[in-house]
Amino acid sequence: MADEHAPVPHPLDETAVEQCVNQAIAAFDEAETIEELKAARLAHTGDKSPIVLANRQIKDLDKNQKKEAGKLLGTARGRIQKALGLRTEVLEAEHAAKMLVEEAVDITAAPPRRPLGSRHPITRLQEKVVDVFTAMGWEVAEGPELESEWFNFDALNFAPDHPAREMQDTFFVEPAEAHLVLRTHTSPVQIRALLDRTLPVYVLAPGKVFRTDELDATHLPAFHQFEGLAVDRGLTMADLKGTLEHFARQMFGPEAAIRLRPSYFPFTEPSAEMDVWHPGAKGGPQWIEWGGCGMINPNVLAAAGIKDPEYTGFAFGMGVERTLMFRNDVPDMRDMIEGDVRFSAQFGMEV
Ligand code: PHE
Repeated sequence: MADEHAPVPHPLDETAVEQCVNQAIAAFDEAETIEELKAARLAHTGDKSPIVLANRQIKDLDKNQKKEAGKLLGTARGRIQKALGLRTEVLEAEHAAKMLVEEAVDITAAPPRRPLGSRHPITRLQEKVVDVFTAMGWEVAEGPELESEWFNFDALNFAPDHPAREMQDTFFVEPAEAHLVLRTHTSPVQIRALLDRTLPVYVLAPGKVFRTDELDATHLPAFHQFEGLAVDRGLTMADLKGTLEHFARQMFGPEAAIRLRPSYFPFTEPSAEMDVWHPGAKGGPQWIEWGGCGMINPNVLAAAGIKDPEYTGFAFGMGVERTLMFRNDVPDMRDMIEGDVRFSAQFGMEV
């Protein structure tokens, strides 16, 4: 290491100057890295190094001595510079050799595999459904997942104490006075769509819904539905059936069909359960329960401010997960929420 207090040799003291040169050379040789060499260089050739300080004293000598001292110190400085140059070369070469090894690229190494991601089949199925309806000129509508009880129930003709409210196991949200729920179905979007638009209205509303169901192979507490709503002059059950049949064929092939069975929903009258004939079902062609539908109850039209009796409408709703389940033979719905790309990738990589 540099000795800051190394004695300054007298500019005519050959022995002291020689010692000074030897100390410098030794310090350079001891330096193992370019940084260490830099410190040694400053200590032995810098402004405050003994040899430079000795050089400055030459001016105080008389003329003859100046010449002699100049020669002595000049030679000494030359030797120091040479030693420094040699050591610099050695260390730089060592450094370059080390970098070559450290930064070497193994061009034979296998590259890391980065599999492509895949969009979720639920998202893609929703988009497919939307495409079927937008192709017929329908609009897409959305509503909030945190919904007011009025939209989720009251406006849909669920009486305050009607047991039908219990039909759908509701997540009520605190504080109770706010009357908010996690929407139990996409049907509240029927009301929102009617309030937002002028007649006629043809909308499809895909979205997330929530029920207090236990998680198992066929139930998820958070899942998706799509809701269809049409209100126009003189719509009948035949329009509903024709629409559903077209939809079924787009989803399940030209042999698909629709069957309606009488049922009850407070917001439709008459109401029906719809089954779809699934020609490509895994266990052979069969009827599968697909969702609910019906002609819009006049009370619902009134809640949305539609009083003109010329206007009638139909609505339907079905579960997206359930549709994916029998359309693509997924035996367990839980696979749909795990986020494992290997599950999603089975449905193809198309975007
Ligand atoms: N909202 C109903 C449900 O979730 C389905 C439905 C929609 C029924 C539209 C009739 C009309 O079960």
